[in-house]
Amino acid sequence: MTINKHILLGVSGGIAAYKAAELVRLFKKQGADVRVVMTKSALQFISPLTFQALSGNSVHSELLDTDAENAMGHINLARWADAFIIAPATANIIAKLSYGLADDLLSTLYLAATCPVYVAPAMNQAMWNNAVTQENVEKLKRHGIGIIGPEQGDQACGEIGFGRLSEPVDICKHLMVALDKQALSPSQSLQGLNVLISAGPTREPLDPVRYLTNRSSGKMGYALAQAALNAGANVTLVSGPVSLVAPKNVHLIKVETAEQMHEAVISKALENAVYIGAAAVADYSPVIIQAEKIKKQDDQSSLLLRKNKDILADVAKLDKRPFTVGFAAETDHLEVYAQDKLVRKNIDMIAANWVGREQGGFDSELNALHVFWKTGDKKLVMTTKSQLAEQLINLIAERLHA
Ligand code: PMT
Repeated sequence: MTINKHILLGVSGGIAAYKAAELVRLFKKQGADVRVVMTKSALQFISPLTFQALSGNSVHSELLDTDAENAMGHINLARWADAFIIAPATANIIAKLSYGLADDLLSTLYLAATCPVYVAPAMNQAMWNNAVTQENVEKLKRHGIGIIGPEQGDQACGEIGFGRLSEPVDICKHLMVALDKQALSPSQSLQGLNVLISAGPTREPLDPVRYLTNRSSGKMGYALAQAALNAGANVTLVSGPVSLVAPKNVHLIKVETAEQMHEAVISKALENAVYIGAAAVADYSPVIIQAEKIKKQDDQSSLLLRKNKDILADVAKLDKRPFTVGFAAETDHLEVYAQDKLVRKNIDMIAANWVGREQGGFDSELNALHVFWKTGDKKLVMTTKSQLAEQLINLIAERLHA
């Protein structure tokens, strides 16, 4: 039962807009306080009076409405919400959200909202299947937006296929489960804590066109950033070069070399309660970076490398250091090497994963971890990196509060 939660419902203009009225009724039944925002085209399909009567609150549709700004300005409305759901979401509003356009109240609220956002699409099946719509939806997913539906079936336009708005009762159920998850037990929460995470590879230049790097995609570190956000943390993500979109609401610091990552992490470490080193930092970098492209000459060539500073060990050496969590990426003797790193680097926890195997590790969607701390250990079985990140964040929160 989700009592006292603030749900902001965005209604965009489609024939399914009438179903949003039922959604308000169901949310109210669950004890939530509901406010409704409508786009201009939604006003063509259903009257704001319906939502006002059902929610007991005024309905908002104008971005620049002085009366509304006095009562509940758009930024306050975004701050007020514990969850923001857009249902029905047309192809147009999905495209606007994915490109960050903010030319009306609903799309502006999306950019201003810091709470979890959910989108329930509803449109003609051909529009849903269009590659552009699919790309936009994928982009929203990468930004951490929950997509609910759509369902398959008969459509108002007479066609059959995917594009029907999910049933209000299913949307309501989905949101209630998500809100209950948000209300984590205190031992699982990082509410209000600052969490610093490193992710991705580093690049160590050899000359203007070449560098040494590794296979890290950043997926594990970015999933941890999202999971820490979901647990209520303020997240700073120090990222090496990756092709991922950072979760909405993280403070992203982009770096390239191990030296830059060291500088960024150390400068932020003391502002944070937790540091998670998920990045695959180069252990060595070339002693000389050639100013010009290195020419092909002898049959054999060698590189002189210098050991890089160890970011994780240096964080652990700080006075009043954050709770420090490392990763161990191993091709052999996983448990032995991981426990050795836990002790040698003097950190609080280490998450060991196999790399170079068929499943898991670098660049995979899946991973498994064996987590060690000084007084115990826990195996987290192979699953998606986002689920694994959630489990690891829960474990970190538990150990932190222990
Ligand atoms: O990015 P993905 O494709 O999703 O892949 C995820 C991952 C396999 C990269 C990730 O799960 C992982 O294991 N990250 C750590 C990789 C690594 O560099 O492991 P390591 O065993 O070499 O290093 C041990 C720890 O020391 C790590 O926390 C590392 O960030 C840290 N380190 C290493 C060297 C260095 N100079 N400074 C460091 O802080």
